[in-house]
This record gives sequence, structure tokens and C-alpha cells, in this order.
Amino acid sequence: METMKRTVTCGGLRGTDAGKIVVLNGWVHRRRDHGGISFINLRDRWGITQVVVDPVRKPELAAAAAELRNEYCVAVEGAVRPRPSGMVNPEMVTGEIEVDAERILVLNKSAALPFQIDEETRANEDLRLTYRYLDLRSAAMQKRIRMRHETAFAVREWMTSQDFYEIETPTFIKSTPEGARDYLVPSRLYPGKFYALPQSPQLYKQLLMAAGFEKYFQIARCYRDEDARGDRQPEFTQIDIEMSFAGRDDILSMTEGLMGHVFKKVLGVQLPARFRRLSYEEAQERYGTDKPDLRFGMELEDFGPYVEKGTFQAFKDAVAAGGAVKALVFKGGASFSRKQIEELEGAAKVYKAKGLAWMKVRENPARDAQADETPSPLEGGVAKFFGVNAAEIISGLGAGAGDLVLMVADAKRSVANTALGAVRSKLGRDLGLAGHDPSSPRFEFVWIVDFPMFEWNGEEGRWEAAHHLFTWPQEQYHAVLESDPGQVKGDLYDLVLNGYELASGSIRVHDPELQKRIFKIAGFSEEEAERRFGFLTGAFTYGAPPHGGIAPGLDRLVMLMAGESSIKEVIAFPKNSFAVNPMDGSPSEVDSRQLDELNIGIVKKEQGGNLQDERLP
Ligand code: AMO
Ligand code: AMP
Repeated sequence: METMKRTVTCGGLRGTDAGKIVVLNGWVHRRRDHGGISFINLRDRWGITQVVVDPVRKPELAAAAAELRNEYCVAVEGAVRPRPSGMVNPEMVTGEIEVDAERILVLNKSAALPFQIDEETRANEDLRLTYRYLDLRSAAMQKRIRMRHETAFAVREWMTSQDFYEIETPTFIKSTPEGARDYLVPSRLYPGKFYALPQSPQLYKQLLMAAGFEKYFQIARCYRDEDARGDRQPEFTQIDIEMSFAGRDDILSMTEGLMGHVFKKVLGVQLPARFRRLSYEEAQERYGTDKPDLRFGMELEDFGPYVEKGTFQAFKDAVAAGGAVKALVFKGGASFSRKQIEELEGAAKVYKAKGLAWMKVRENPARDAQADETPSPLEGGVAKFFGVNAAEIISGLGAGAGDLVLMVADAKRSVANTALGAVRSKLGRDLGLAGHDPSSPRFEFVWIVDFPMFEWNGEEGRWEAAHHLFTWPQEQYHAVLESDPGQVKGDLYDLVLNGYELASGSIRVHDPELQKRIFKIAGFSEEEAERRFGFLTGAFTYGAPPHGGIAPGLDRLVMLMAGESSIKEVIAFPKNSFAVNPMDGSPSEVDSRQLDELNIGIVKKEQGGNLQDERLP
């Protein structure tokens, strides 16, 4: 096959290169014809260069150029020349020049495209994923995949500079509990036995501490069988980190250093040296979530002091039952319609609120009051229950004319907080309160610390580890672990960025006896704990050091750096929302011979619940 070896990339030529003879390789990005002259925008990974074919000087070449279609892969030889004055394009780095084609070689044709590359509007997601190799040719995807590479590189650079080793851990393992379902791999050699794909390298990184490596990291693949969402994929990547002889503050400051380096290197953004910290409880009280978006305020207030000053029974009932009434002041929200408020109520009800009470602060009470009313500064919704003390409530909440006050009362304080927190998040998203300016994105990091160690699983009637079973309970709770698990706080922390949980970690248990107590509280019998985690507790009987770690999600990190809201935008070949890859069709059936070798038969559950053997042909 005839070849024309590239001498320069499509992003490389400048005005000073005029006169050079060059060979470019790339794809036909767009072709335009003006008065018989063909202008071809030739694209490769580095940029776009304008190629010109002159029909007067080169009639045969012009005829060949007319045959070129978008995404043909071609080689072009020609002379670099300055563009005529007035035709310089300052938007393009190569905008000062063009290449006057002498020779064009079609390296490969392209079939008609399912969508145009670099179109303004994104094509439908499944179409993009079906033709992902075309979607990835777009400038936006190329940029994000480059950003991902640069991020991974900066991570390795920083971790190495801090004396960490990158160590691979196996991906065929014994099941690690991170709270999701495992993906299983059947063993051919041992019929009926399975490996699990790691939900994270958690136990192995702890074993590396027992093994004396002291500082470990790995850009690690993790696999979790859970419902896919915007920020979740069945397979994803963690920057997994573990350190020995380290306390919580060592790990937080190491992570701050890592983030600082990555943002500086990749985005040129200077982060603060230290990130804010909020306790889990404070985050719940002020934002109604453990992953608050701190790019805007609108904090939850306690409406408790005003309940007795009014006559609204739902509020009184919640307080009497030991619950709470929380309020949110939405500045300028008085213009919201009933329908808009109902939508907010819908968001609150998803989180189990019984309703969303509201009232508006009047711009001009004297003017707006009905003839038969005493003018009150509050109107609408539940305002009528708070007429007498309206002024005190308004000033107490820090509200003003034209504001909308939203409230949730519940016998459970946590429901009032999370439901109103969901309203806050929805307002933030819908109204763009976080200030979504792509040219100067804001990054508000916050540490959430002092999480509860255990959560009550009402369905199964047992305590569960809130993070995972290997978290160190804070020292002052060791005496009450069994008697009052709900009170125990763990030495665990999350790093939150712009409302997303970016990383999670904890100080671990290194004392095998303490570890056994935790297994027991979480409902594992001694035999069960031994069978599942004996290899870890066994290792800890040989002088395992105190240790702790953290794992930022690489996909989420790059997604946030790129200003996207789905991790699919920063993964080359993601699954769709149904855990399917529309390009290769996985998951797919396999040959019956493969199943035979694995001693596996497929049994599908009938709708009636009966099992039916339905071995594939
Ligand atoms: P955790 O389960 O909280 O902790 O996960 C840590 C981080 O990994 C990312 N992440 C995900 N990203 C994409 N898709 C998913 N399905 C997904 N699940 C998690 C998030 C999350 O903050 N072994 C512990 C870490 C430790 O204790 O050191 C762990 O895996 O960014
Ligand atoms: P009701 O008296 O039930 O008709 O409710 C009057 C208003 O108060 C409606 O807007 C309800 O959404 C709201 N509401 C009812 N119960 C609660 C509650 N527990 N917390 C907040 N608002 C409530």
C-alpha cells in the first residue's frame, strides 16, 4: 500500500512554517467548496489544519477532492502558505496558515455517519455508545479523555513524590464487602466455586500494611453490581490509598496535597491548602445531606423556637413527638407559583416528608392585605397560623420581603433534615445557584467527619457498618460498642466536592479482638467471620501496624474537573444506564460449551417463582 508518512501534526503549523513542504495524516473533518476551490479541514488528535485544493492549477486533484466525505482517513502532501489577509482565523491555533495540496491519498473511506462529529447537540446516548469510537473522535471527548490521562499521571507523580508505591492487587478475589453485590467469576477447576471481582481493594491494601509497605496506592478497577446512575458505573476506577502509622489528620492532609497537585497540574487551578471540615451531624443539620454543595448557602434553619408561637398542628405534633421543624429561606422565592412549590414538595416527599409547608414574605403588607385582613408581613400557605408573631419569625430566620420560607416538620429529625435538604439541592440545581460558569468553574471541597459507625437496618433487624466493617470506632466509644451501637462514631471521613461524594476512607481496626467485636455487632457469627475474613484477622495477629486510608473515585474526580454531570462523559467505553454496552452487546450469552466446561447450567426464574431448568442450546 502506498503511504505518505506524516511529517507534522494537524495542530503543529504556524505562520513561521510558510514555505515548508509537509505531509499531514488525519480525518476529513469538514469539506467546503467555494467557487470551485475545495477547503478541507483535516483533523488529527492535535488539531485541525485547513487544506486547499486549487482546481485551476490541479484539476485532477480537485476532482479527487470532490470525492472526499466526512471522516475519510487521508494523507495530504503540500506546501504551507500564509492565508490571504482577511482570511486569518484567530480561533484556530493553525489559523495563520493553510496547506496547498499537491497530493492526496485516501487511506480509508468512511461509511455514512450515524451522527456528525462535533455537532453542537449531543446525539442520543445509546447511539453515542453504540458508535463510541466515532463519538470519541469529537473534540469534547478527546479533551476529556486527555484530562483523564493527565489526572492519572498527576496522581502517580504526586504519590511517587510522597514515597508511595503503586502495587497491583488481584482482581480475582474472595468477596470483599463494600455493601454492593459482587460480580462473580466461576472457577473451571473447582466446580461450584467462584472468584469475586473486587468491589475495592480494601482487604488487600490492609494486608499490604500488615506486609510492611507502609505507603501504598493504586489506580484500581472496582466492580459493583448495583443500579447505574449518573455518578455510578458497574465498573469504575478508584485512586486507592493506604498508610501505616497514620492518623486521620495525616490522611486528610495527604489527600489535600494530592488534590492540590492534580488541580494545579491539570487545570491550573490553585486550591486552598486546607479544606473545610464539617461533622456529619452539622452537615445534616445545616444542609440536610452528608454531601452538601457549598457553592451556595441557603442553609436549613431550626423553626423549633417558633412552633409554639403559632397554631399549626402538624408542627406542634412533630415537636411533641420529639422531632423537628426545619425551615429554608429562599431569597426572592415569593414569585414561585403554587405549581413550582408543588414540585418542590414532590422532592421533599421522596425523602419521606409528609408535606412541604410554605409562606411568603410580602413586599408591601399594607397594600397587599385583603380589606378584611389585618396586614401581616406573611401570606399564603401556612402564614395564617403565624400571623401574630410574623415579624419576629421573619427576622429570626433572616428572611426579607419577597422571600419564600419552606418548612418540613417530622417526628424524626433526620427526615425533616434530609427532606428539606433535597428541596435545597433541587433549588440549587434548577436555579443554577451554584453558578455554573464553565469558563471559571468553582470547586468547593469539604471534609465530612465523625460519621456514625453503625446504621440500623430495619428490614433485616440488625446493625450494619455505615462505611465498612474495618473502620476504627473512635476511642471514647470502645466501652459502649455493644451496649449502644447507634451512638458510636467511627474514625471515618468523606471528601465532598460540589455536592458529590468524591472520596471515602477511614482509620482501620488493627486489633484482631476489636475487629471480632465489630463483626459480632454487625451480626456475623464467629464461624462466619472466620470463614469470610479469617485471612485478614489472622494477618493482624502478627504485629500489624495501625493504619488507615482513603479512596477518591477517579471517574467522579475527572467528571467534576470537566464540569460534567455523568461519569460516562469521562470513561472511554462505559456501560449505559442499564449496565449494557450497546457497542459490543455485553452482557451476552455464551456458548453452551463454555458453560459445560464451567459446570454451569442456566436456570431462569419463572414469573410464578418456580425454577425451571433452561439450559441454553
Ligand atoms: P467507597 O465505597 O465509599 O469506599 O468508594 C470510594 C469512592 O469510589 C467512588 N465510587 C464510585 N464511582 C463510580 N461508580 C461507582 N459505582 C462507585 N462507587 C464508589 C466514589 C467513592 O467516594 N474501600 C473504601 C475506601 C477506603 O475506605 O479506603 C471504598 O471503596 O468516588
Ligand atoms: P394539611 O393541613 O395537611 O392540608 O397541610 C397544609 C400544608 O402543610 C400543606 O402544604 C402540606 O404540604 C403542609 N404540611 C402538612 N404536614 C406537613 C409537615 N409534617 N411538614 C411540613 N409541611 C406539612
